[in-house]
Amino acid sequence: MSITKDNIIASKLPSHIAIIMDGNGRWAAQHGNERIFGHEHGVESVRSVVEGAGEVGVKYLTLYAFSTENWSRPKEEIDALMGLLVQAINDETDKLKEKNVRLQMIGDYESLPADVQKKLDWSINELKECDGLTLILALSYSARWEISEAMKKIGRKIQSGELKPEEITKELIDKHLATAGIPDPELLIRTSGESRISNFLLWQIAYSELFFTPKLWPDFRKEDLFEAICDFQSRERRFGKTSQQLVS
Ligand code: FPP
Repeated sequence: MSITKDNIIASKLPSHIAIIMDGNGRWAAQHGNERIFGHEHGVESVRSVVEGAGEVGVKYLTLYAFSTENWSRPKEEIDALMGLLVQAINDETDKLKEKNVRLQMIGDYESLPADVQKKLDWSINELKECDGLTLILALSYSARWEISEAMKKIGRKIQSGELKPEEITKELIDKHLATAGIPDPELLIRTSGESRISNFLLWQIAYSELFFTPKLWPDFRKEDLFEAICDFQSRERRFGKTSQQLVS
């Protein structure tokens, strides 16, 4: 039996799903092509997943599109990926508006090429009134970068006397992260059969359910997202408590 969105229980829907989109390079190699061919096809998967998340009522979808570590890839691949991002944002913004999708980015904005910054600013502004799904692109992002930045901000506040070390709490740290104001992802998906986190949202995934699928990202579609959501809904989330405590 294949899973459809009708199998999803609305009352148990994760409000935030994060995805590590992996396997574009391997997909391209399997099709006898250059790596960028995989990234190009990955855009179709992004389109399908954004559509699917919106259809079922997910509030936040975070996509790991480019990590701080990805800057060490060959220059041609980086340039091609940045070009693809500009093109995708340009081509998709009208459709995102029709679907009531808001756009946000997390990551080291200053390190992005000027044309990517400009296109992001434009699209974020175009979509600022949308209040359906919020699509968060993690670009030039890594969790260790994000946590280091938060520590710097908190350190400066302590230095200036605005904050006391005793006032550092989980909530205070949350507020200084790039994801301030966004709930933690309840579900984290990684494609391509790799079972690791690769420096993604390390603080925020403390209690996330992890879903690993062997599918390569360019083959992933909204039906696969629905399957991951159904799998998530079948799990018991205990947050350190016992099963019995949850029942009572
Ligand atoms: C990982 O696969 C994928 C990336 C580093 C880039 C993801 C980018 C896209 C899907 C396209 C643009 C995105 C948006 C949001 C429009 P990999 O290259 O590491 O694959 P491999 O592990 O098989 O080599």
